[in-house]
Amino acid sequence: MASVDSLWINARLATMKPGTRYGTVEGGALAVSNGVISWAGPQSRLPSEVKQRARVINDACGAWITPGLIDCHTHLIHGGNRAGEFERRLHGATYEEIARSGGGILSTVKATRDSDHETLLRLAAPRLKALMNEGVTTVEIKSGYGLDLDTEIRMLSVARELGRRYPVTVRTSFLGAHALPAEYAGGADAYIDFVCRTVMPEIKARGLADAVDAFCDTIGFTPEQTRKVFEAATRLGLPVKLHAEQLSNQEGAALAADFQALSADHLEHLSESGARAMAVNGVTAVLLPGAFYFLREKRLPPVDMLRRHGVPMALSTDCNPGSSPITSIQLMLNMGCTFFGLTPEEALAGVTRNAASALGLSGRKGTLEPGKDADFIVWDIDMPSELAYQVGLNPCLQVVFGGEPT
Ligand code: NIG
Ligand code: FE
Repeated sequence: MASVDSLWINARLATMKPGTRYGTVEGGALAVSNGVISWAGPQSRLPSEVKQRARVINDACGAWITPGLIDCHTHLIHGGNRAGEFERRLHGATYEEIARSGGGILSTVKATRDSDHETLLRLAAPRLKALMNEGVTTVEIKSGYGLDLDTEIRMLSVARELGRRYPVTVRTSFLGAHALPAEYAGGADAYIDFVCRTVMPEIKARGLADAVDAFCDTIGFTPEQTRKVFEAATRLGLPVKLHAEQLSNQEGAALAADFQALSADHLEHLSESGARAMAVNGVTAVLLPGAFYFLREKRLPPVDMLRRHGVPMALSTDCNPGSSPITSIQLMLNMGCTFFGLTPEEALAGVTRNAASALGLSGRKGTLEPGKDADFIVWDIDMPSELAYQVGLNPCLQVVFGGEPT
C-alpha cells in the first residue's frame, strides 16, 4: 500500500454520499495519500497498516468533517462597485431600468476595462479569501465584465493566477455573452458573431476557460443568440452552462439541456418542461439566493418541481457587484433554507456534491470518498444542520486543501 501522508481520527464524517442522512459516519477516520482521500469510514474498521503508515495523525476530538465547500457560480473578478445603484434601487429604480439606462452590468464593464491585471488581482483576492475562510476549497469564476477580447482575456488570466497563488481550486467560465457592450449597441447579432468567431477561439487556444456561460434573458441575449454561443462552444469542445429564467421565462433551461449543459442557474421563472428537460439531460440547477435577496425578488425558484423531477440542486453566492455583492457561502446555506425551503441537508449537498456536478467535477470533488481530492473542512458544530442554521459565527476550525491544512 502507498504511504499515508496524514490520518484524521475521532471524527464525525458527513461524507455527503447520497443515500444516508448526510452520509454520516460516527467515530470516523479519514486517510490522505498524495493529496487524495485514500480511506474513509468507521475507525473501528480502519486497516492497521493505514494507521502504521500514517506520517501525521490528527485527532479531530469528535469534530465534524465535511467535504470542502464549492462555490460554483461567481463573478468575483471585477472593477468598481455598484453601491450607488443599490441606493438608486432603494429610491425606486428597478434592476432592469438601471441596466437599460446604461448602468448595471455595463457600469462594471467600464470599471473592469479600466483596471489592469494587478488591480483586478488585488480587488479579487480579499473576496476569494473571505470564501476560503468559510470553507470554500473550489470556486468557479466567470469573465463577462470585459466584453472585448483584451479584457475577457485579462479577467480569465487573473482567475488562473488566483488558482496558482492560492490553494483553492479555480474553475473558469467564459461569459462573453453577459451583456451587449456599448460599442455594439443595436447590433447584438454582430456582437454574438464576434464572441463566437474571435473571442471564444482565442480564449480556448490560451486554455483560459473550462466552460462557456451566457445570460439568456430580456436584458441579456435571446435563445437564438444563446444557441449560437452554445454551438460555438460545442465545436471547440467546451461544456456550457447558462444564466436562465432569472427575470423571465425564455425556455433557456431547456435550451441548455439540449446541449447537455453542466448547469442552468437562477431559475426563478423555470417552467415544468424546462425542469423535465434538465432532469433528462442531467443538468444541475444552481440556485442563487443572494441575488434573489439583494434584488428583493418575490418569485421563488420552483424547488418542489425540481425535487419532483429529480434535478440535483446546487447553491452558490453569485458573488458580483450588481445583484449579489456577497462573499459568504455560509449565508447561502442559511438563505437556501429560509428563502427557498431547502432542507439543511439539501443545502449542504448544494455546496458540496451537487456543486461539484455543476462544475463537471463529480469524479474529483464533493464527497468524502476514496479517490476524491482531500479537500475537507473540520467544523466546531454538534450537528451538520448548524451550518445552515446560524449566521455570522464561522464555525470553521480548519480548511484542508488537498490534504494540507491551512
Ligand atoms: O448572475 N444575471 C446576470 N449576471 C449576474 C449579475 C451581474 C451584474 O448585475 O453585474 C447575476 O446575477
Ligand atoms: Fe451570475
